[in-house]
This record gives sequence, structure tokens and C-alpha cells, in this order.
Amino acid sequence: MTDLQLGPDFVWGVATASYQVEGAVTEDGRGPSAWDVFASRPGTVRAGHTGDVACDHYHRYREDVALMADLGVDAYRFSVAWPRVMPDGMTVEPRGLDFYERLVDALLEKGIQPSATLFHWDTPQALEGRGGWESRDVADRFAEYAGAVAERLADRVTRWMTLNEPVVLTMMGHATGRHAPGKQLGLGALQVALHQLLAHGRGVQALRAAGAREIGIANNHVPVWPSDDHPESAEAVAFFDSLYNRLFLDPLILGEWGVDGFEDLVEGVRDDDLATIGQPIDFLGVNYYNPQAVGAPGTGTGTDPAVVDGAMLPPDLPFTFHDIDSPTHNDFGWPIVPSGLTEVLVGFHERYGDRLPPVYITENGGAFNEEPDEHGRVDDQRRIAYTEDHLRALRAAMDVGVDVRGYFHWSLMDNFEWAEGYAMRFGLVHVDFETLARTPKDSFAWYRDLIASQQRSR
Ligand code: BGC
Ligand code: BGC
Repeated sequence: MTDLQLGPDFVWGVATASYQVEGAVTEDGRGPSAWDVFASRPGTVRAGHTGDVACDHYHRYREDVALMADLGVDAYRFSVAWPRVMPDGMTVEPRGLDFYERLVDALLEKGIQPSATLFHWDTPQALEGRGGWESRDVADRFAEYAGAVAERLADRVTRWMTLNEPVVLTMMGHATGRHAPGKQLGLGALQVALHQLLAHGRGVQALRAAGAREIGIANNHVPVWPSDDHPESAEAVAFFDSLYNRLFLDPLILGEWGVDGFEDLVEGVRDDDLATIGQPIDFLGVNYYNPQAVGAPGTGTGTDPAVVDGAMLPPDLPFTFHDIDSPTHNDFGWPIVPSGLTEVLVGFHERYGDRLPPVYITENGGAFNEEPDEHGRVDDQRRIAYTEDHLRALRAAMDVGVDVRGYFHWSLMDNFEWAEGYAMRFGLVHVDFETLARTPKDSFAWYRDLIASQQRSR
């Protein structure tokens, strides 16, 4: 690895998200989230798992911060649970903020930069009851919440992300219903995209007003490949590409809607919405996992590859998924294609030029479900190879001029993997979900050595 150099100022990190790691779902006044309610419904999450306990990070955060200090990371990307801070969606619960203050201070003590995401899908259930993300009102509630968190923590949090992967909340939460809140609105889910865009813009304003410095968003981006060369498939590709790669970027960067005909597909777009959404941001967070092949409706598998047991797509979606022919897949079945990361980044560089903000890779990783052997060792060579190959692909994008400032591995530790429950392991640290024991995997030692070798050039 000595030939891989990402530069002395490059930020090395790990990422998690509140509902996936915290547990303690009724503690210190936390209100229920859409995920608590969704996961408690039979047939939603594999094996009936929930985030009730998860990794118990809420109580064990000191141990987890100590692990991060051993790992030598510069930064920790975590998310703040909105229902801890505003259990009813409107009123501040100070004990919720106290937790994040303790976490942030513990990180700072170890010299780790707190990097906070304000929303990683755990909407307060109280707001779901009032229309949730289908109601425009949610954007104002989000701005109030963002302001409350920043008033407490803006002096200590290094960087902020408003939303995590708004396209996934749109598509899986509201189009196909495989994630909370389980709505199957098909293309009607674009309404939710508008409201997330507005929440982002209003959130950036509230963060700035409270003195937050570095502000961005964490988007999921996907290279979209045609399944065949039929013209209808080209149309499907163009549409899917606009959903995943432009819907949450063009309005932020260019001040234009990213999906053709957006104002006709969505109700209630106002004249000044683009101005609200297009607040200047300081960086773009890119989450990258894999490319997606799509074709014309009716031609592919008809199932959603993001879930193992293949939920059917609503029939009104103008595309269908196809498998990618790849020599390697992770245990989720997702193809491993490191060059897709270069493709995404170079594509943005070409499309947005000087207007592209500095990039952080805010998530990248894979489900490799290796378990400890009889000596307690977790030999996860596949994760090491995956990470090394993706870092090389990142370097290739930097070599053609993309300004990438940091990389956050997903994830610090095995956690609640949404519809798959605890079946998919993405961690550098193994978690035994019976005892909650943490065991660093071989990839942890590898990442630690890599980071140390990069930091030596500082
Ligand atoms: C993942 C993406 C993946 C997509 C598949 C998302 O949840 O984050 O990386 O490509 O599902 O449709
Ligand atoms: C999400 C994470 C998730 C990961 C792997 C991303 O879509 O932001 O919460 O665990 O991908 O599926």
C-alpha cells in the first residue's frame, strides 16, 4: 500500500448512524421514530429485528470512541436522532442534546473531529402522524431542529451534513416501501424529494444562523448502466440517473431541477423554492456502494436489489433493475465495482466543473459477514481488498482533478442494517449482538496501519 498516497491533509474517518447503533430507544425522553414503528410491524424487517438495543452505542459510546482512537481516525461521522432532540417533533428535550454533547466532547478529548449528520432516516413518529415527508411543513420543523442542535454544538462540531441519502428515503421509504415509513407511492414519492430539498435548504440557513462552519449533505450516488441497447432502455437509464445523480445535486449546485418535468410531477412547487434549496454548501458528501444496471419497464427482474428478499417495484416506475455481471459480490449480493467510484466523481467533475464543491466520501464499505474463529480472530480479507480497491479508484479520480478531502468507511462496527436487520455486517469491528462484545476485525488493523502510514507524511 506504500504506493497509495492521498495526501497529508486527507481526512480519515468512519461512519455510523443513530438508529443503526444507539439502541436506548425509550431513554431520556426519546420519542418513537418512524423506524421504531416500521420495525415493530410483522414482515418488515428480516427475522423481526429492531433497533431497540442495536450496538447500545448510547451507553457504550466511550468504549467506541476509545476504539476510534486506537484506529487513529481523524473524524467520526455519526448522526443525531431527531426524536431524541425533539420527541414530539417540535419541543426540545435537553437530555437528548446532552447525549450528543457528551459524545462530541469525548471525541474532542481524543482529537477526533465530530462530523454530524442531522437526519439519517429516523423521522419523529409524531411528524409521520402529521403527513411526515409528504407534508411541506416538515421542512420548517427540520430547520427548527437543525437550529436547536447547532445552537448547542456549533462551536464543537467540525462538519455538518443535513440529510443522509435523500434518494433512498424517497425511493425505498416512499416509492417501494421497503424502508420506513413503508409508503408505496411509486412516482408519487417525488413529493417527498421536494420536501427533503426544502428541508436541506432551510436546514443550511438555520445551521449558518447558529454559527455552524462546514456544511454539506451526504448523497447516495450510483453509476447507471444500460441493460441493453434498446432506445427504451436508454430512456430508463436517463430517468434513473436523474433520480440518483441529479435530483439532489442540480438544485443545490446549478439552481435547476434535476429531473425533467419535476414541476409537473410534483405538486405545490413555488417560485422561490429553488432559491431556498440552492444555499451555498461547503462540501458534497458522496456515499458510494455500487453501480446499477437498469432497463425499460418489464424487462428486468422487477425486484429491488437493495434488499435480499427482493421486494417488487411498484408498476408505475419507468425502469426496471438488471443484474450486473461482476466477478465479485458482497454478501448482500451487490456487485463490487471500484471503478464505479471513479466514474461517479469524474462525471460530477465534468458536469459541474468549478461549481462542484470539495468532496468527502461519507460512506463506502461492504457486507462481508465473516465471524470470529475459535481464537476470536475475524479474518475479513474481502473487506480489506474492497477498501483498498476503492481507495485506489478514489485516487484515480483525484489524479484527474477531483478535489476529494476525506474518506469515511461504512461502518465503524456491525450494526442494524435496515430491512436486513442484523444479518448484514459492514463493520471494521465485529459486534456480537447477544453480548454486545466488540472485536476488531483484521480490516481494523489494516485500516489503522494505512491511516498511520498516511499520517506520517504530515
Ligand atoms: C444502497 C446503494 C445501492 C442501492 C441499490 C441503496 O440502499 O445504498 O448503494 O446501490 O440501495 O438499489
Ligand atoms: C446507508 C447506511 C446503510 C448502508 C449500507 C447506506 O445506504 O446510508 O445507513 O447501512 O448504505 O446499506
